[in-house]
Amino acid sequence: MTADAPLFTGLTDQAADGLLALMLAYRADARPDKLDLGIGVYRDDNGATPVMAAVKAAERLLVEAQPTKVYLGVDGDVDYVRRLAAIPFGADRAADERLIGMQTPGGTGALRLAAELIAANTAPRRVWIGAPTWANHIPIFRAAGVEIAAHPLFDPLTQSLDLDGMVAALETAGAGDALLLHGCCHNPAGIDFTPDQWERIADVAARRRLIPIVDLAYQGLGRGLEADAHGTRLLFDRCETLLLAYSCDKNFGLYRERTGALWAKAPDAASASRLHIAMRNPARSAWSMPPDHGAAVVRIILERDDLTREWRAELEQMRLRVLGLRESLAALHPALAGLRAQTGMFAMLPISHDAVMALRRDHGIYIADDGRLNVAGLTEANIPRLGAALAPWLGGRR
Ligand code: LMR
Repeated sequence: MTADAPLFTGLTDQAADGLLALMLAYRADARPDKLDLGIGVYRDDNGATPVMAAVKAAERLLVEAQPTKVYLGVDGDVDYVRRLAAIPFGADRAADERLIGMQTPGGTGALRLAAELIAANTAPRRVWIGAPTWANHIPIFRAAGVEIAAHPLFDPLTQSLDLDGMVAALETAGAGDALLLHGCCHNPAGIDFTPDQWERIADVAARRRLIPIVDLAYQGLGRGLEADAHGTRLLFDRCETLLLAYSCDKNFGLYRERTGALWAKAPDAASASRLHIAMRNPARSAWSMPPDHGAAVVRIILERDDLTREWRAELEQMRLRVLGLRESLAALHPALAGLRAQTGMFAMLPISHDAVMALRRDHGIYIADDGRLNVAGLTEANIPRLGAALAPWLGGRR
């Protein structure tokens, strides 16, 4: 660029994030009967994403009682962090003096902070990530300067999990390598490890001295709040250290409030405070202090037994609704039967990229480019329409 050329000219084309591009394409589609099964958002029978009743009640209390908007500090709302910790870890581990945590802007903020921590404090600066994974995982770690090592995980066309391939790859990992794991309800594959499968993963992670980074963004939407935390708790018990990136977007329905947390288990109590400072510094230079509203709402819900009960009941209702939709989807065609064994909001359809594009072009049905469908965006009323559009593409046809 010459010294007097206009700035920001000569930029090269960059690939847009697939899910964000999909949101824009859906919005731009003028067809009134278009169907959004792309971005991961829970919808009710009317296709709406209402604010949960427990959240509304907590918000009313917050508006009445909040005395100030003054900064809370880099850790955010520490009572939120403390109370929330018991949901993924259980009360005993949450009180363990080796565990430190801080509030983050959403699960993405937690993952980015974890990535910065790995980049600045480990020698390999490497993270193992299964294929496929959430569209934003690799960009987040790359942006922090962490090298990506891929391990096999799931083949959508055969709907099969390759745990042997995963473990074999991890046997080649070295001490201090990070390992990114979806705590439950894998995004995009819908797979959930069984307790036996978690044992194998925890075993290789502990033996190879890996740093598990658990991304837990759907707790309560898979097999239930407790069962969905099984892998996280096992890794906490088995591994020297562990990072947990948590999101309240889906299970509290707080999406736009960007409500998350990052916890780290230090190897011993003496190193916990140094690890805490190592987490605070990149947070300070990225967002300084996190936004308050969503965390305050979650804290109020968890402070009050009545609201906690209401939240748990609403979440369970959502979980059961998604399970029912998954069952109806799986019943559409024998090629979809494998979806029954999966959990959570997502499934990858066993169809080609051409099929994904044809659904969009010919039917106004939007699913992600990799064939991921947001099961939670379906309604019993629109499943037959999806089935008709999918029929030509399933079971090895076309
Ligand atoms: C998704 O995967 O659709 C959600 O987690 C939303 C997002 O930010 O991508």
